[in-house]
Amino acid sequence: MSIAYLNGEYLPLEEARISPMDRGFLFGDGIYEVIPYYNGKSVGLMPHITRMINGLAEIEIKNSHTADEWKTLLDNLIAKNSDQGDNLGVYVHISRGTDVKRYHAYPEGVEPTIFCFTFGIKDPEPTDRTKVHQYSMISTEDLRWQRCHIKSTALLGNVIHFQEGYSSGHDEALLYNAKGELTEGSSCNAFIVKDGVIITPIQDNQILPGITRRIIIDSLKADGSLTVEERTITMDEVRNADELWITSSSKEIAPVTQLDGKPVGNGEVGEIWEKAFKIYTASKYDF
Ligand code: PDD
Repeated sequence: MSIAYLNGEYLPLEEARISPMDRGFLFGDGIYEVIPYYNGKSVGLMPHITRMINGLAEIEIKNSHTADEWKTLLDNLIAKNSDQGDNLGVYVHISRGTDVKRYHAYPEGVEPTIFCFTFGIKDPEPTDRTKVHQYSMISTEDLRWQRCHIKSTALLGNVIHFQEGYSSGHDEALLYNAKGELTEGSSCNAFIVKDGVIITPIQDNQILPGITRRIIIDSLKADGSLTVEERTITMDEVRNADELWITSSSKEIAPVTQLDGKPVGNGEVGEIWEKAFKIYTASKYDF
């Protein structure tokens, strides 16, 4: 039986209930996180918690837990669900809380709603480039909002873009801004490789500051054998790239071999992907 956490209580997931007057439900007024645990070991737990605390502060939702208290809560929830599989993701959702009326302004004296549950996630992909799952994507103009750095529960913009890819038989949608510059995927960050150099868009308001993105950059820089750059990338560069990757807590580093029906590079998973994924895999639990 899957155990959830709701406002201080651990309970069976099917029994968890919130009010329809919750601002998360009415306005998508909240912050969320998704954190992977493989065999009980988390990847990027503290960076995820830090991003969540920063997001809450940015939209002025009260945070009643220290980072260490969040860690204990999430580790406890994973332990209570250890019978649900070896690999679990934990979803954390904090909305502004339940009001008595529907009114746009932030209400005073309302307690945030905290809801967490776990779900099974797949084993990590093999690091062998001949065996890994290959992704196909479409590209489309990024029509979300100007605050994509906030991990908001208001995901309709992302959902519409994801659906564009999904309904046309693809795994994801790659997004570019009005200037034709790469931003990210509808539920992931993006990297390209050109002439052996790994490049990813800079961290600004146009993208989510992905924890997987950060772990990749930091672990590659620490290893030192590959070059990684953060800079603006045009869609022309994406279309001429040797490799394209998408990254997230659930996908880790996923190689994309088809974009808009055309092969990326030579249409095979690249050598740099394999090297980078091995470095990431060797150090991901250190973050
Ligand atoms: N998605 N960009 C967007 C728009 C995302 O939704 C995500 C994550 C990322 C990658 O972030 P991270 O590496 O911290 O997971 C980038 C999560 C997993 C989701 O919504 O399910």
